Amino acid sequence: MIASPIDATSTPAWTALTAHRDELKSGGFHLASAFGTDPARADRFTLTAADLRLDLSKNLIDSTTMRLLVQLAEQVGLPGRIEAMFTGQHINTTEDRAVLHTALRADDAAPSLEVDGQDVRKDVRNELAKIDAFARAVRQGEWRGVSDRPIDTVVNIGIGGSDLGPAMAYQALSAYHGPIRAHFVSNVDPSDIADTLATLDPQTTLFIVASKTFGTLETLTNARLARNWLLAELKAQGAIGGGETEERKAISRHFVAVSTALDRVKAFGIDPSGVFGFWDWVGGRYSVGSAIGLSLAVTLGPEVFAEFLAGFAAIDQHFRTTPLERNVPALMGLLNVWYVNFWDARSHAVLPYCQHLARFPAYLQQLTMESNGKSVRWDGSPVTSATGEVFWGEIGTNGQHAFYQLLHQGTQLIPADFIAFAQPAAALVDGDQDVHDLLLANFVAQTAALAFGKPASQVRAEGTAEAIVPARVFPGNRPSTSIMADALTPGTLGQLIALYEHITFTQGTVWGIDSFDQWGVELGKQLATQVTPALAGDAAAIASLDASSRSLVQYVRAARAAKA
Ligand code: F6P
Repeated sequence: MIASPIDATSTPAWTALTAHRDELKSGGFHLASAFGTDPARADRFTLTAADLRLDLSKNLIDSTTMRLLVQLAEQVGLPGRIEAMFTGQHINTTEDRAVLHTALRADDAAPSLEVDGQDVRKDVRNELAKIDAFARAVRQGEWRGVSDRPIDTVVNIGIGGSDLGPAMAYQALSAYHGPIRAHFVSNVDPSDIADTLATLDPQTTLFIVASKTFGTLETLTNARLARNWLLAELKAQGAIGGGETEERKAISRHFVAVSTALDRVKAFGIDPSGVFGFWDWVGGRYSVGSAIGLSLAVTLGPEVFAEFLAGFAAIDQHFRTTPLERNVPALMGLLNVWYVNFWDARSHAVLPYCQHLARFPAYLQQLTMESNGKSVRWDGSPVTSATGEVFWGEIGTNGQHAFYQLLHQGTQLIPADFIAFAQPAAALVDGDQDVHDLLLANFVAQTAALAFGKPASQVRAEGTAEAIVPARVFPGNRPSTSIMADALTPGTLGQLIALYEHITFTQGTVWGIDSFDQWGVELGKQLATQVTPALAGDAAAIASLDASSRSLVQYVRAARAAKA
């Protein structure tokens, strides 16, 4: 039985944090003076977790802030919640499920774990062995297409957690790409699959239909389109005849599935031997370390996938065992609470100075916002404070030439996470200049500009005309965290993802939120099933719509009729 959440806003730590924030504000706290008066500040607020180095010193904090935030974590019972998660208690209360994505990547030394009568470690080991064997068979050309040609392309068909994780990681680890290439199709906009299929050879393509529920409209529609395309193209190329047996054989060589719903996969026509399973205790957005990562194991290799999982495990271990005072995911989650609830931040920027992490902000949007974008707590009672800030971002330096203006001089406080690596993924020198140094110089410079700004006195000293001095002042005191590692490897990528998973969990715990359900996505899905027949012209369905929706549907119908 999961206890009701403790209301963070009625804890002594919350009251103390409110007073502390007021003191910082009235005392004119500024990062420039905080660094000026404390030469040890950078060292004191720089922490490590596995291979990650986290510099928290450019945040609006002092030692009192961190002490009070740790007290807040203790007073809302974060340590107990962490243990409850790792030991398989049903902390996903609205779905009555355990939350065990950490079990997907536990190392062999982890103690046995039985949950709901299931030997979790054994199940995970067996599934990993199956993924490993399949990935090797495809990579070594033992698993072949129906015309006996080896597979050179994998198409992952999935959406949300069944797409964003593998798609992001595939791009992030492009230094590890081999001869088998991956594509990711998610959107039900027919252009998505059409654009992808147009480039493919059906005889050497393997489709992975990834869907936890195997009931997601977008994924099933795209999977059907892919199946129809495959059969039609194979026939047109003379690779198969028209009989049902040959079609079934083609599907069994060119389609596998990843799902928890084996009966639905079978009904779709995928052979049960080509189904990779996972469990209801893995949430979609926490599932990239499960069989949902099959496309990664096949294209990057099972060894790379194992290193990726080991990265997650290192941060899991850190989160579970490190005292709160040095527990990086806990402290970063608490800092996010500090900004949302005490400084009214409503969004959080994620700025990777790494081209290959271009999809990381999109990945984080699902992780954080589907987890914590909620107004009720895990016992059904209303939340007692603001929750769920908007996560967004773009790779540096592109963002600098787009929206950083607002970060530097706008009226909103937007905490930012900067992510960068000491080593380049691609080493290039322009003349004597290491191009990666230019990237890193921008990363460091931006965090400094945000923190320290540029006062009017300096702007004037540069000879600026008085009338435009105000426009050229940078107020500074804008918080950022710098996350660094030596290089973007499978291991550090796993660490980075696990870091944000546990940051998200920490925030959810303070807010009393079930960070593992997502009821807010259901209504739109339901209504779409009513709109579809209306678009097709069903009079009763059109009449059942509200006036605005009806006029949208009528506009589409009229535009199409005019074209026809
Ligand atoms: O609609 C949201 C969602 O349920 C996500 O939580 C999930 O990751 C995604 O859809 C895909 O779900 P499935 O893997 O079941 O197709």
